[in-house]
Amino acid sequence: MSGASKMDCTTSKSQSEGALTILTPTLPFLKWAGGKQRLIPQYQAFFPPLETISHYYEPFIGSAAVFFHWQPRPATLSDRNEKLIEVYQMVQQQVTAVIDALQPHRNDPDYYYAVRAQDPQNLSPVERAARLIYLNKTCYNGLYRENSLGKFNVPFGRYKRPKICDVDRLCAASAALQGVNLVADDFAWVLDTAVAGDFLYFDPPYAPLTATSNFTSYHRHGFDAADQYRLAQTISGLTARGCKVMLSNSSAPLIYELYQQPPYRLIEIQARRAINSKGDGRGPVKELLILNY
Ligand SMILES: C[S@@+](CC[C@H](N)C(=O)[O-])C[C@H]1O[C@@H](n2cnc3c(N)ncnc32)[C@H](O)[C@@H]1O
Repeated sequence: MSGASKMDCTTSKSQSEGALTILTPTLPFLKWAGGKQRLIPQYQAFFPPLETISHYYEPFIGSAAVFFHWQPRPATLSDRNEKLIEVYQMVQQQVTAVIDALQPHRNDPDYYYAVRAQDPQNLSPVERAARLIYLNKTCYNGLYRENSLGKFNVPFGRYKRPKICDVDRLCAASAALQGVNLVADDFAWVLDTAVAGDFLYFDPPYAPLTATSNFTSYHRHGFDAADQYRLAQTISGLTARGCKVMLSNSSAPLIYELYQQPPYRLIEIQARRAINSKGDGRGPVKELLILNY
């Protein structure tokens, strides 16, 4: 990585393109379980026209694949994972410092476990952001998983040459995040602010197809059937208010049951499942896109 510390957003390709960068589709700088990058071509036909949206909300932001691709404005992005939201805040406000803080990080198992063992509270917000990006790029499968104490517990990933500091993506992400509202909270907070004419895209942890099939432990609190019911109630409240809602979820019976009545439309999507503990189940899987418009 020597010499890379001189890189910042004034030398990155994405910034040299100037104002156009804001409207150029951008790729996520994190890997995320359930990331939607590959599904965007299938989703695109169902997004409402940008000019009809007063405000865009994405309450399960993860790697923000849809937001970075589409970049609607004005936008509010949120997630219950406050450490993830802090990363977006730092990339938004201090991207050069984040890039600098990433420079010492190395793809080495001993070094990885030493960084993983650090207490994030002893780091500055910029160092914490760089630590999370580093762990995300070098851990197993890019998973974000915490133990019951809220400590990141994913093992080393053994990648040959992970791009720990992708300056172009970080700079493009920083540009895309300018003016965006970032909130660390449970999804239901949107009921406090969304109004008629707003568009909300929900991408929760999926309802499991079988008792053991899905990865839903992004966070120490998990996401269970009661959360799926709570989400359906939230969406029902937003629908009554005149908001447009799009929801991604699995094709589990519970999801058909929750969204079977009009005005919901269920669209079947063929996806490739990337996270499966045994490495099987990577063929096409039927998923649902649920629309209230
Ligand atoms: C499927 S991922 C979102 C992936 C994202 N669409 C992408 O493209 O990367 C689900 C996200 O929901 C977040 N989450 C889990 N429970 C939540 C809750 N109750 N409220 C808000 N966010 C939650 C997780 O932290 C995770 O980032």
